[in-house]
Amino acid sequence: MAHVAVVTGGTRGIGRAICEALKEDGFTVVANYGGNDEKARAFSDETGIPVYKFDVGDHEGTMAACKKIAEEVGPIDVVVNNAGITRDGTLLKMSYEEWDDVMRTNLGGCFNMAKATFEGMKGRKWGRIINIGSINGQAGQYGQVNYAAAKSGIHGFTKALAQEGARYGITVNAIAPGYIDTDMVAAVPENVLEKIVAKIPVGRLGQASEIARGVSFLASEQGAFVTGSTLSINGGQHMY
Ligand code: CAA
Repeated sequence: MAHVAVVTGGTRGIGRAICEALKEDGFTVVANYGGNDEKARAFSDETGIPVYKFDVGDHEGTMAACKKIAEEVGPIDVVVNNAGITRDGTLLKMSYEEWDDVMRTNLGGCFNMAKATFEGMKGRKWGRIINIGSINGQAGQYGQVNYAAAKSGIHGFTKALAQEGARYGITVNAIAPGYIDTDMVAAVPENVLEKIVAKIPVGRLGQASEIARGVSFLASEQGAFVTGSTLSINGGQHMY
C-alpha cells in the first residue's frame, strides 16, 4: 500500500511542488494549509489532493488533525514540514509578536507534526521526516532574526531527531532552500531582491520544483541511509 505523506503549507509555492512530486512518486499525499481557503480549494480541484486546514503552530490542533488524517486517509509515514512565514524587520523594529509568530509556526510546527506522527512511524518501523530549513538559517540574514533563528533551529532539530529515529527506520533530514521563485520571495522589496540575486552564482532564483526533487529523493526507499543531513539547494549562494 502507498505510504501516506503529509505536506504542511502544501497548497502553494514550494509545498505545492512537493505535493505534486510525491504524488508522481506514488505516495498518497495530503496537503495541510493554514489560511487561504480559496487557493486551497483550487489546489485540491486541480490536483485531486485532499486538503486539511489547521495551524501547525497550535499543538493540540495539530495533534487532533493528524489523528483525523490517519483515520480518514491512513497512517502517516512521511511528514514534510514546509509551512513557514516571514515577519521581516530589523531587531529594533520587530515586535515580540512578530518574533513569536515565526518561532511558533516555523519551528514549533516541526515539533508538533513530529510529536503527532513519530510514535506511529516507530511502531511500523518506517518513516520519513523532511524539514524545510533555509539558507538564512545557515548564513543569517539582515532583518530576519526571527526567521533565521527558527530555521537554524530546524537544522538542530533535524540532527537531534535523526539520532532518535535511526534505529526505528525513521530518517530525518532537512533541505535548505536558497531564494526560490515564490510569493514569499516576491514580497522582498525589489531593490533588495536585486542585490540578493546578484550574489547567486547560478544567476537566478530557484524553482519550487528544484526543491521538490530533493524531497522526492529523501522520501524514497533509496534514501534510507541518508539521515541527519541537510541538503542545500541554493544556486551556490552559500556553500556550507
Ligand atoms: N547588510 C547590511 N546592511 C543592510 C542590509 C544588509 N544585508 N540590508 C539593508 N541594510 C541597510 C540599508 O542599506 C539601510 O542602510 P542606510 O539607512 O544607511 O541606507 C538600512 O540597513 C536599512 O535598510 P532598509 O531601508 O531596507 O530598512 P527597512 O527597515 O525598510 O527594511 C528589511 C528592513 C525589512 C529587513 C528589508 O531590508 C528587507 O525586506 N530585507 C530582505 C530580507 C530578506 O531577505 N528576507 C527574505 C525573505 S524570503 C525568505 O526568507 C525565504 C528563504 O528562506 C530564503
